[in-house]
Amino acid sequence: STQGDRASTASDFVVVANRLPVDRVTNPDGTQGFRRSPGGLVTALEPVMAASEGAWVGWHGGVDEELDSFDKDGIHLVPVPLSEDDLELYYEGFSNSTLWPLYHDVIVPPSYHRTWWDRYKKINQRFADAVLRIAAPNATVWVHDYQLQLVPRLLRLARPDLKIGFFLHIPFPAASLFSQLPWRKQILQGLAGADLVGFQRETDASNFLRCLRRFTDYQTKGREATPSLENDLQNICRADAHPISIDYEQIQRLSRDPQIIARAAQIRHELGNPKTIMLGVDRLDYTKGIRHRLKAYGELLADEQLQAGEVCLIQVASPSRENVGTYIELRDQVELMVGQITGQHDTLSHTTLRYLHHSYPLREMISLYLAADVLLVTALRDGMNLVAKEYVAAHQDGRGVLVLSEFTGAADQLTQSVLVNPHDIDGMKVKIMEAVNMDETEQAKRMKRMNHHLKEFDVAGWSDRFLSELAEINSKSAPAKEN
Ligand code: G6P
Repeated sequence: STQGDRASTASDFVVVANRLPVDRVTNPDGTQGFRRSPGGLVTALEPVMAASEGAWVGWHGGVDEELDSFDKDGIHLVPVPLSEDDLELYYEGFSNSTLWPLYHDVIVPPSYHRTWWDRYKKINQRFADAVLRIAAPNATVWVHDYQLQLVPRLLRLARPDLKIGFFLHIPFPAASLFSQLPWRKQILQGLAGADLVGFQRETDASNFLRCLRRFTDYQTKGREATPSLENDLQNICRADAHPISIDYEQIQRLSRDPQIIARAAQIRHELGNPKTIMLGVDRLDYTKGIRHRLKAYGELLADEQLQAGEVCLIQVASPSRENVGTYIELRDQVELMVGQITGQHDTLSHTTLRYLHHSYPLREMISLYLAADVLLVTALRDGMNLVAKEYVAAHQDGRGVLVLSEFTGAADQLTQSVLVNPHDIDGMKVKIMEAVNMDETEQAKRMKRMNHHLKEFDVAGWSDRFLSELAEINSKSAPAKEN
């Protein structure tokens, strides 16, 4: 019956990402189960998956645990197992201590270890194999993010019939930085196995094309890269900008929910009704510029440009990659700064900084957005930053000011924000005060323009545009030639 099983589970549309879109939960009766997880990519792809009864291949978050595939909310989920070693070498190692810092402009130094690379190759093959088991003839496969850059090529070598798209959620670095990578050629060839490689910004797409020209046998013309005749793949690879976005409709709807609005008022009240609430929401990651933000904020309090009794900064820092050394160090540094600021400026009745090392459900996040007069997004480098977009979408009331780093993908689109260079602490202090003091007419004018943009370019449009561009490409890929 293997044949029958295979036919019944064959999918015409397969998403593959490091993580499955589920979180583990303990049911009231003590048994273990899964719940759909919140988060950018899931929200982004849910409508597409539901419409096409697609499959999603990814890691389920367990260690050393083999699970059968299962269905959740209309999506066929295919778990890929990872062992403790796999996590250390492929996930914490190559993905998050080599590629992540390298692709984010080497904010911390990337580490290059051959054992990590070997495991990255092996795990990419494991993900590709899982896809190959379920992909129907001529299926479309959409591969996501930096953890799986070898998968497009592995798929094409095995199955030239597939339509292969890849989307990189993080920046693609300049050639001068990418050139550090000992395995730069293999990564580029891995990606070029796709028919279409999507990036957040135009700059990322052109960085990639320049790297292909410099480090491989591909020639490029406009947005298309063509391999030499000696290459074992003969497909043309397109590179294009496809900035990701949010479920605008959902955020807008939640922001009008009376319970969420009441909760926002309660948050302000519980903080002692400060004149100004500022907010930061980030994974606790060194790319997010949290220290730069706290530095500027602490100085504004010390200078008395901000009055300690009148202002509160809520910093939500959600736990992330807690076994990686650079993240452990960052947490110590941030928590030291938090202690310095609150120790110096708080009173018995008032806090200037509420630091929360937690993650929160979306509804609570919308309440926080509504309560915040100013959102501070000060990333040193960020592929997109969906928090900035969510904050804007939540402010249908026309209130609120977005302070946004120039080093985010979102800065290309949210041009009515108050743009800052987070490295320039003095400049950032001036901009934060500009945001705090912005009059309501100006706030409303800017919010309206940015909302107009987000309404037109929401996440459904993002996946539609990517998948239509992919569908329009004529696969000229021939199977590997036997020489
Ligand atoms: C970024 C990456 C994603 C990743 C997410 C959370 O948004 O682009 O690929 O899943 O961070 O990080 P984690 O390591 O917990 O999956």
